[in-house]
Amino acid sequence: MAVERIIDAGCSDDSLEAPEERAYENTLRPQRLAEYIGQENLKTGLQLAIDAAKQRKEPLDHVLLFGPPGLGKTTLAGVIANEMAASAKKGAEPKVNLKMTSGPSIERPADLAAILTGLQDGDVLFIDEIHRLSRTVEETLYSAMEDYVLDIMIGKGPAARSVRLPLPRFTLVGATTRAGSLANPLRDRFGLVYRLEYYAICDIKQIISRSARILDLTLADDAADVLAERARLTPRIANRLLKRVRDYAELNNSGNINKDIAQKSLELLQIDHLGLDSADRNLLKIMLEHYSERPVGVKTIAALTGDETSTIEDYYEPYLMQIGFLERTPRGRVVTKRAREHLSYE
Ligand code: ADE
Repeated sequence: MAVERIIDAGCSDDSLEAPEERAYENTLRPQRLAEYIGQENLKTGLQLAIDAAKQRKEPLDHVLLFGPPGLGKTTLAGVIANEMAASAKKGAEPKVNLKMTSGPSIERPADLAAILTGLQDGDVLFIDEIHRLSRTVEETLYSAMEDYVLDIMIGKGPAARSVRLPLPRFTLVGATTRAGSLANPLRDRFGLVYRLEYYAICDIKQIISRSARILDLTLADDAADVLAERARLTPRIANRLLKRVRDYAELNNSGNINKDIAQKSLELLQIDHLGLDSADRNLLKIMLEHYSERPVGVKTIAALTGDETSTIEDYYEPYLMQIGFLERTPRGRVVTKRAREHLSYE
């Protein structure tokens, strides 16, 4: 049976996500740091930086967030904007000035210029997949980040000249799954750099329970345990599993999500108790069948599974490495004994 992948659509570009999926995710995003579950070190550092910037009445330093997909980079950009906009006055509604875009959608320096000149003092500009900016756009960003000015060429040939435009004092929040792919001069211009870690299962359970409350679902505590265990330590996947289980419960148990319903619906999705789906198991099996315990290059793995190399690197590998199923060696990727045992590989 072909199963739609919950793990990810295979891209982290929000614009490629179904609108309904995006609306669902947005409903569940925490708005303020106090609501944000997990990532304790990051939250402590960020809160301090935000409080200090607000006290000095300055924009927050530029923030770089990196880590595997689905851990909350986009959510944090929204939280940062809300925290910066929130006034000390109790009950005052924060005014959110958050502009969201992504590396691949800013094709030319002129596109970036249009975005930057449309900002206001204190605004937050979120650039997802910032490692995919072109070199010329990236170079235009340097002076914008450092001095809040835009150096841009106008005209062509002998008539070409450079003009310098002042910009509002904005905060750039850049997100990437690959900090290693970022050019050093760009990385150095971020004052705050945070790595998002996989969540503890107890944090994932709290996130699921919070989402169930927001969606007004009846979710038994042991059903939340089942979902948390299989969500790959990732909030986005936890919320997607909850959605699928909700559908199943509505059709089979008047919407009531108990442990049995949770287990049955995840079985139907072929998601095992570690959160692996058929595509993960297929990848591991193919590696074992062709290479046994020998290292394999990522390009070879991609050719064998029919995926893009970047899909293997960004979507499969991080979690498989996190749970000790794959190891990266200088000579390639190796399937571990633990993974072989999980697959009952003979
Ligand atoms: N929903 C998605 N991520 C979350 C988080 N870290 N905390 C609370 N709710 C979330």
